[in-house]
Parts: sequence; structure tokens; C-alpha cells
Amino acid sequence: MKITKICCIGAGYVGGPTMAVIAQKCPDIQVTVVDLNADRIAAWNDKNVDAIPIYEPGLSAVVAEARGRNLFFSTDVEKAIDEAQLIFISVNTPTKTYGKGKGMAADLKYIELCARQIAQVAKDNKIVVEKSTLPVRTAEAIKNILDHTGNGVQFQILSNPEFLAEGTAVEDLLHPDRILIGGDTTPDGQEAIQSLVDVYANWVPSDKILTTNVWSSELSKLTANAFLAQRISSINALSELCEKTGADVTEVARAIGMDSRIGSKFLKSSVGFGGSCFQKDILNLVYIAKSYGLNEVADYWEQVIIMNDHQKRRFSAKIVQTLYNTVASKKIAFLGWAFKKDTNDTRESAAIYVADDLINEQAQIAVYDPKVPAAKVLADLDYLETRTPESNAQSVASFGTPYEACAGAHAIAVLTEWDEFTTYDWQKIYDGMQKPAFIFDGRNLLHRSEMEAIGFVYHGIGA
Ligand code: NAD
Ligand code: UDX
Repeated sequence: MKITKICCIGAGYVGGPTMAVIAQKCPDIQVTVVDLNADRIAAWNDKNVDAIPIYEPGLSAVVAEARGRNLFFSTDVEKAIDEAQLIFISVNTPTKTYGKGKGMAADLKYIELCARQIAQVAKDNKIVVEKSTLPVRTAEAIKNILDHTGNGVQFQILSNPEFLAEGTAVEDLLHPDRILIGGDTTPDGQEAIQSLVDVYANWVPSDKILTTNVWSSELSKLTANAFLAQRISSINALSELCEKTGADVTEVARAIGMDSRIGSKFLKSSVGFGGSCFQKDILNLVYIAKSYGLNEVADYWEQVIIMNDHQKRRFSAKIVQTLYNTVASKKIAFLGWAFKKDTNDTRESAAIYVADDLINEQAQIAVYDPKVPAAKVLADLDYLETRTPESNAQSVASFGTPYEACAGAHAIAVLTEWDEFTTYDWQKIYDGMQKPAFIFDGRNLLHRSEMEAIGFVYHGIGA
């Protein structure tokens, strides 16, 4: 089937950029992105293309090119489902916060709602594509719901996980390492796979489009995230040993990364990984392994999370210990709140947990992040429910410039690796701080020798 109309349910960090690029590269396909969140859709439709809800380098230009031509954002979910031949499900799949599997399993309620809505609305055959990251064998549940409509409509379920990373989403979508499409091994399944292959083939070389069975595709996504996160936890584990032994983790990472079997990417020691995916997906993998009775497999992967939690906690503990075992009433400036540079996303950012620890020690946190608004910082802390929102508001303030955030501070903590942090007038920042002026660089972003030459007491990770 030649696809001319696509619907994507979920206008978030994946649905928005992915569909914008499909629309840009396939002008003959009408792409409609729908969401229940009317504010989000309104922001996607904002006349000012820089006001779209997601900050990603290059994204507003892609949206500007395709929006109104063949890219549409709407809250009319039913109409878009009805019209489309192919429907991407790109809704959130967070960790369950209640019931069986609480804190581990993926919460599939939004996925099920989508499946039920498609079942209810569809009047002709559809291809339904899992774009969200899902536990292996979810396609079975979706198929079950779709096959019980009783109206004779045929559905093909494909798995097409998304591998983009935030901050480089547009680049990753334009030049993917691979596109993975899993589907049924039946002739109808293979035909559905081919329809989606043809969409991507508009800009992705055919040798980078990989097709598998559905279960391999679903499990590959969880596996990829587990491997990536494992590399960070591995280097972070070694960073602590480096600090005890005089080795320098950056030098160690470089030395091992030059081994072509290991590779140099994803070996940057940090205050701990954040983002909406790694923790959620590994917990989900652990839960799945446990549910099959594979306890050793589950324990193995759980260590990646345990190590990451330790890395965050040990960062805040080091700040307290270095500041003479008390940060009570001391101003600690946070440079960065986002979970990585070039995104306004803060989900699971290490900054949230470090701030929470320091507020427990009665510190005053002063935040500067180029893309994260003050309200988001407070909302992230409130979400933890460690203390009342009033209490959080008394302990944290956001500032419009780094100089204001750092003025009078006892210490600076670098939580995000924004490029602009390296360009500041660090002498001016130093002059405005309490002495000794400490820097805790959770990203090894600044140069130790330059900072020490100014007079800072500099602590990086793993050296
Ligand atoms: P998100 O929270 O940014 O967006 C999800 C959107 O779906 C929300 O706007 C929500 O309102 C909407 N939604 C939920 N239920 C709906 C329904 N029934 N009808 C219409 N809209 C509905 O999430 P995201 O970051 O885009 O992630 C989506 C999925 O993609 C997740 O499974 C995630 O694991 C996966 N993923 C995310 C990334 C990433 O970098 N963020 C990368 C790869 C894969
Ligand atoms: C990740 C995967 O990379 C992507 O393929 C998947 O689709 C979604 O999850 P994302 O979370 O957006 O993407 O960003 P990523 O670049 O993977 O970074 C995740 C976290 O790890 C960030 O907090 C980042 O700062 C941290 N990180 C990354 C390190 O601490 N060290 C590294 O070497 C790399």
C-alpha cells in the first residue's frame, strides 16, 4: 500500500520532531500529529515558530517548512485516525507509579487507550506502528484489542522504535544509524513492513533500514538503551576509583576508547545520566526479566541504575563534605537544570536529585539554565514530594543570568554541559563569590588549570 496519509498520536519529544522530519522529507504524505493536550497542540501551531513546545536545534526550521503544507497539529484524534492509512503511536510510557510493578514496569495505560480509540474509530484497514518504547510482546496486547472490534477491519501491527537522542533529534532523524521495523512474518505483515520502509526510503539509504520480527524489534530498543546506559554507569563506577587512586577518568576513557572493540562514544563520566528513557527502560527490562523468573539477568541490569543513583548521591555528598560538612544557609549556584545540553527537557535530570539532597541539608539553591524556566525547576522538585511546594519555593530560586545566580555563592555546581558555560567571564564570577570559591563540575566541562589559575577550588568527576 502506498502511504499518503499518516496520523501520529502523541505530539511530544518523539512524535513532534519525528513527524516534522517525515513531513519535510515526504511532501506527498499528509502527516497529522494529534494530542489530548490542547496547550501542547496550540504551541505547535503557534505563529511564532520559535514558540513550539520543544527546543531542539534545527527543529523550528523543519516545522516552518512543512507546517500547513503537509504537516498538521490537531486535537481531533478521531478524525486523524479515521483518515490515516498508517498510525504511529508515540505516547508516553512512564514507569508505573501504582499497583503491580510499581516503580519498575512500564505503564501502558496510554497505549491501551490509543489502541481502543483506533479500534473504535477505524472503518478501513490500518497499519498501526508502535513508535513508543514498549515492553517486548506489547504488540500482542495491541493486536488483541484491535482484533475484537467485530467490524471486519484488518490491522497490521509494526514495531518501529525511535533511537533519536534529545538535543540532536533533527540530526539523528535526518541521518539515522539505522531504522528498525519489526512486523509479522506473514505476507500481509511483510506488505505492511514494506509500506513503512517506502516512507523512510525517501531519505534513508536502504542498507540502513533493518527489518525483523516484531519481538526482536521491541526488545532491541530496550537493549540499546540498556547498553548505552551501562557504558555510562561503567565509566562512572571507575570515576570513583580514579578519585581514590590518582588516575584521571578522562585519560582512562580516552585510553580504552581508542580500542576499536570498545569505541570512544558514551564514555563521558558525569554526575549521572538523566532523561526520560534510560532509567525507565532499564527498570522495565529488569521487570520483564523478573517476570520470566530470570533473576540473574534482572540483577545484572539493575546494577546500572544502582550505580547511577550512587553517582548522583555521591556528588551532593561531596559538596557537603567539602564545604566543611555543612551547607546550611549557604548559596549553591547550579549551572544547568536540563538533563543534557541543547534541550529544555528536565525529566530525571541529575540536577533535581542533587538539589533535593542539598535542600535536605538546608542549602539555598540558585539555578541558571538557558532553556528551563523557573516554574519547571520548582515543578520538578515538587514532583518528588520530599517537602511542601512552599518549602521548595523558599529553598530554590532561578535567575536570568549566570552572574546573578553565582553572586555571593559559596559554590557552583555544573549540572549540564551547555556550551555557553565555557564562555563566561569566570574572573567576574569568582570576584562575586564567597571565598574559598568552589566549583563542582559534574560534567568535567571547565578547564581545571584555568579555574585554579583564577583562584577557584575545582573538583571535577573522576580526577
Ligand atoms: P512525551 O511525554 O513528550 O509525549 C507524549 C505525548 O502523548 C504527550 O503530549 C501526551 O499528552 C500524549 N498522549 C498520551 N496519551 C494520549 C492519547 N491517548 N491520545 C493522544 N495523546 C496522548 O513523551 P516522549 O518523550 O515523546 O516519548 C514518547 C515515547 O517515545 C515513550 O515511549 C518514550 O520511551 C519513547 N522514546 C522517547 C525518546 C526521547 O528522547 N524522549 C526517544 C526514543 C523513544
Ligand atoms: C537516549 C538514547 O541515547 C536514545 O538513543 C534513545 O532514543 C533515547 O534515550 P537521550 O536520553 O535523549 O537519548 O540522551 P543521551 O544522549 O542518550 O543522554 C542521556 C543521559 O546520559 C544524559 O543525561 C547525558 O548527559 C548522559 N551521558 C551521555 C553521560 O553522562 N555520559 C555520556 O558519555 C553520554
